[in-house]
Amino acid sequence: MDIRSHFPILQQQIRSQPLVYLDNAATTQKPQCVIDTVNQLYTTLNANIHRGVHYLAEECTARYEAARGTVQRFINAQQNYEIIFTAGTTAGINLVANSFGNTFVHAGDEIIVSEMEHHSNLVPWQMLCERTGAVLRMLPFDDMGELDVEKLPALLSKKTKLLCVAAVSNVLGTVNPVAKIIAMAHSAGVPVLLDGAQGLQHSAADVQQLDCDFFVFSGHKIYAPTGIGVLYAKEKWLAAMPPYQGGGDMVKTVSFAQTTYADLPYKFEAGTANYVSAIGLGAAIEFLQTLGWDYIGEREQQLLRYATQQLQGIEGLQLFGTAAHKVGILSFLLHHLHPLDVGQILDQQGIAVRTGTLCAEPVMQHFGIAGMLRASLAFYNTEHEVDALVKGLLLAKKMLRA
Ligand code: ALA
Repeated sequence: MDIRSHFPILQQQIRSQPLVYLDNAATTQKPQCVIDTVNQLYTTLNANIHRGVHYLAEECTARYEAARGTVQRFINAQQNYEIIFTAGTTAGINLVANSFGNTFVHAGDEIIVSEMEHHSNLVPWQMLCERTGAVLRMLPFDDMGELDVEKLPALLSKKTKLLCVAAVSNVLGTVNPVAKIIAMAHSAGVPVLLDGAQGLQHSAADVQQLDCDFFVFSGHKIYAPTGIGVLYAKEKWLAAMPPYQGGGDMVKTVSFAQTTYADLPYKFEAGTANYVSAIGLGAAIEFLQTLGWDYIGEREQQLLRYATQQLQGIEGLQLFGTAAHKVGILSFLLHHLHPLDVGQILDQQGIAVRTGTLCAEPVMQHFGIAGMLRASLAFYNTEHEVDALVKGLLLAKKMLRA
């Protein structure tokens, strides 16, 4: 299968070199079928959803609701109204932090997050704690990048109102033992929010099997357009939670005396939804299903093994994140060279990696460093591109140490 031919952006040259795109943990590139879906919608079908009786409005609405069904089946939610379209992972977590948090979390209560969370799954909980007087507790990870799950029972108590954890670390690539964590939390009566932003790019998620209470992800990290994401929550929580934002489409009746709210899922979808990107997300999911998780998983693990071996062969390169179970994310430093300088030299070779704190400053603090470089792999990358990265790093080393 010529997988790369599906991705027009990968065909181009950057700075007169073939593009080597290794920043897939930040965002993934879009297959032609997703680009075509968005293009076709704007060219032939665009109209606001849930509001019009005319043909375009009804067609667009039907496609939007069909996309909700596609997401429901993709993550195996029990009900389609447990799927709330959001702007992305961050928006989904903020929704829960405000709606669930303001309702169920009070002064003296506790929220548990892991030490490896990216800012999206940390800052909203800090803000909730500031608002309510609740306390944030932290589950640490070890130097390989594995969560110290044995420490969890001591953190869980009657005060714990929610545990929030990433399925996969965006810096370390660690695949966390979420089934075990969820079971431990539930046995203490604590609900769990699972952040699927990095995980769903690499493997399936079955929310019923996982039994998570909340699950969030972003479309743009799974080959879909930007500006769309999903919050899944068990019906019992969504029913008990008040709306987060007010506006059109989330109401049943409005008067100056009283407003009543729409049923699920619309209660949580105020304003004009990003229906074009939601429909694009449906197309991306269908594309992934055509490839199949077996192909995606095997190809990415093959590339990860190769890239790990090649990078470890570079003298002075230090890898962060060596967990036994990880995805194709390689974060590293090269001697004491500044990541930004190395990143810029790679860029001159047409190689795109991420540099800096990777939206996860506490992970940097764990290792006592200011930043890292990160090469993140997708199934459309090649061994040849890994070789180009190695060559680029050797060049950077030579230039910067000279
Ligand atoms: N959280 C995203 C990343 O890891 C943006 O790059």
